[in-house]
Amino acid sequence: MPETTWWKRGVVYQIYPRSFQDSNGDGIGDLNGIRQRLDYLTWLGTDALWISPIYTSPMADFGYDVADYCGIDPIFGTLEDFDHLIEEAHAKGLRLILDFVPNHTSDQHPWFQESRSSRANSKRDWYIWRDPAPDGGPPNNWISNFGGPAWEWDEATEQYYYHAFLREQPDLNWRNAEVRKAMYDALRFWLNRGVDGFRVDVIWHLIKDAEFRDNPPNLGFQPNQAEINRFLQVYSADQPEVHEVVSEMRRVLEEYPERVLIGEIYLPLERLVAYYGQDLSGAHLPFNFQLIHTAWNAREIAALINEYEDALPEGGWPNWVLGNHDQPRIGARVGPRQARVAAMLLLTLRGTPTMYYGDEIGIGKVEIPPEAVQDPWEKNEPGLGLGRDPERTPMHWDGSAQSGFTRGRPWLPLDPSFPSCHVEGLRNEPASILMLYRRLIELRRQHLALSIGRYKPIPTEGDVLAYERQHRTERFLVALNLGQKPHAFPLPDGRTGRVLLSTCLDQGEETIGAQVNLRPDEGLIIALQE
Ligand code: GLC
Repeated sequence: MPETTWWKRGVVYQIYPRSFQDSNGDGIGDLNGIRQRLDYLTWLGTDALWISPIYTSPMADFGYDVADYCGIDPIFGTLEDFDHLIEEAHAKGLRLILDFVPNHTSDQHPWFQESRSSRANSKRDWYIWRDPAPDGGPPNNWISNFGGPAWEWDEATEQYYYHAFLREQPDLNWRNAEVRKAMYDALRFWLNRGVDGFRVDVIWHLIKDAEFRDNPPNLGFQPNQAEINRFLQVYSADQPEVHEVVSEMRRVLEEYPERVLIGEIYLPLERLVAYYGQDLSGAHLPFNFQLIHTAWNAREIAALINEYEDALPEGGWPNWVLGNHDQPRIGARVGPRQARVAAMLLLTLRGTPTMYYGDEIGIGKVEIPPEAVQDPWEKNEPGLGLGRDPERTPMHWDGSAQSGFTRGRPWLPLDPSFPSCHVEGLRNEPASILMLYRRLIELRRQHLALSIGRYKPIPTEGDVLAYERQHRTERFLVALNLGQKPHAFPLPDGRTGRVLLSTCLDQGEETIGAQVNLRPDEGLIIALQE
């Protein structure tokens, strides 16, 4: 795949559809709402949008419990609205990536209804049914990712079914060839409608141990952790046979030109990179969440970038993510000043960046009062800080009531900062974080060195994370001060340079000599000169 391929050069923007833009006043975002905001996405400069699930769903896990893979949930609109959206997105030069949720369906999916109707049903084997253990309890010690046992007893047919997430999300049996065929046909349904790719939900979960062995205990478990961490997930996920499934999905996408396969994978680096597949026959982009889990300091981040670059298979294309609908927002993790530095990091690293809606306006930590909690995980395991509502609050568009997100009552409260922090206002503030994101995306588009150029680490000095990006004759230094003290930083090879951008957005293109003075919390992109 050439380096000019759209998903290598482009910036992906994730939309959590419930919270982006409501068009019908029900307090929940929808497809027509997204369509109304496409001009915003082109103004910002993004290349592709990824929309979290919009399929027919009882919404036990807000769309990650699918009841019809080829339908649009009425909350989000109709198939016609979808066609309209993709047509307009394409006309504006935007690609559209859908979420695909193959590991489990909703318990309301007709397949599961059939499967549970009797042991003799032809779809019985489409799900994972097991007899009780000899003591009558669950077949093994596997735990649900949202807490509690992962096995649910079915009184009528006297077997347990497996659910890695909620009991309303029974896992499909991906060892069954009919399941695979049905799911690949669902992919084709959307590919035929013009979808440019998929982000595949929990792709590393698809195949479980054939013998359903017990997971070993995690000796480091702490009581304030989610219950899933009691055991190491040795047998319940990331089995060798999963790679065959991933490459089958890839082959389905390859029936169409230029489609992208992105995999959601939370695994340590060496296992993550296996999802590029043998000879790169797997996912184009196994999502790289390392920045989410690494402490925000220059040394550790520099080390992680090097480890990741070194671990990539030959020809494997890197990618970077700062946050998503399951993780605390970057603004909440590092605060408003460092959120700007984080933006510069995300958009100047080698590989495809995925941004999360709302990060570009600096939404930070949002408190969700107990009575407003929506997330089933928070309801199952309350008070541990596991809830995902804080990162799913509505987008802020303008200074009106509910910030232009809805004329109704929003499904989750807005961050109280919205009256002073919204797209309309920040667009008119030359030094706002929104303008920083826009400028970074613009620079990345103008200079190939910043997207596809070679990455060259520079040894960390104090709190400064620095690296070079290089393509043909272009050479850039990126220097990011992750600390709160000023720091003088030497330019490499005794060169001079020109500041292209400061995260503070308050200086012109200044020429600098042998060293650059970084202010606290400042990041700079410097064009190096001979
Ligand atoms: C993924 C999704 C998450 C969902 C889970 C179960 O991790 O990102 O939101 O709850 O899978 O589908």
